[in-house]
Amino acid sequence: MEAMTERPSLPLADTVADLRAIVRGWRSNGLTVGFVPTMGALHEGHLSLVRQAGERADRVVASVFVNPTQFAPTEDLDRYPRQEAKDADLLASAGCDLLFLPTPATMYPDGFSTSVRVTGVSEDLEGRFRPQMFGGVALVVAKLLNQVQPDVAVFGEKDFQQLLVVRRMARDLDLPVEIVAGETVREADGLAMSSRNAYLDPAGRAVAGKLYAILREAAARARTGVPAEAEAWATAEILRAGFDSVDYVAIRSAEDLSPFRSRITGPARILAAAKLGQTRLIDNLPV
Ligand code: PAJ
Repeated sequence: MEAMTERPSLPLADTVADLRAIVRGWRSNGLTVGFVPTMGALHEGHLSLVRQAGERADRVVASVFVNPTQFAPTEDLDRYPRQEAKDADLLASAGCDLLFLPTPATMYPDGFSTSVRVTGVSEDLEGRFRPQMFGGVALVVAKLLNQVQPDVAVFGEKDFQQLLVVRRMARDLDLPVEIVAGETVREADGLAMSSRNAYLDPAGRAVAGKLYAILREAAARARTGVPAEAEAWATAEILRAGFDSVDYVAIRSAEDLSPFRSRITGPARILAAAKLGQTRLIDNLPV
């Protein structure tokens, strides 16, 4: 009787050969495949992407891989939260059909020598403060898309610049996949869900929740005023709210992140990065 109380566990693949064997089986039955890449420590934001993939494809693969090539040596690779058993349960509950859990040696075997560089949209904002990141993201996402070969892959608007970098790369390399954007899922006070929110103590968590309201107000100011003035206002407010430093607040084209001159003249986004102690938070909203 014991078996009846066990939860149906999510199938796992930890090699590319196992992954491809399962996906090949689906394909031979005419099923389409959706994919959601993650670094784990999953929350409702990730799960919303899994559900969206499930609406667009017959089967859903999610990956959990804390990708070393997108972290600088000074960043949080070693303390990035890891909870694989819990992640597998959460993915199963969101309708995921297969968890791909590659090891660093599978992804980057000895002698690995290839890089993927996306210029333009990757260079400013996050690219300026984390010069390592988008090369690592483009490389691992190119590999993952090639390993899974999905019909659609879903990426969160939470990492808006990453979404644009991945779109550009998929287009430039003729990857046969549709890149779909998922809206940012937020806590009750507006804080964008993030695996890194786990680093915040209660005082920091209270401060972090103020970022969203400030960005909303700045977006409203930018719609009717001068973008640079709204950026400066938001920077001052974020510091006043209790953040320790602001890397940037930027109102940019939602298409290619190019700046506006004195007025917003097309689809726009406000993007920000700020630090609370050791924790760096990013967020963005449509303007
Ligand atoms: P990770 O930070 O785990 O995020 C995985 C996906 O979840 C990304 O597409 C991200 O934008 C999305 N996401 C994160 N928080 C979200 C939220 N609150 N609402 C909606 N979506 C959210 O981003 C990465 O991992 C990595 O760079 C990766 C693409 C996996 C490459 O290593």
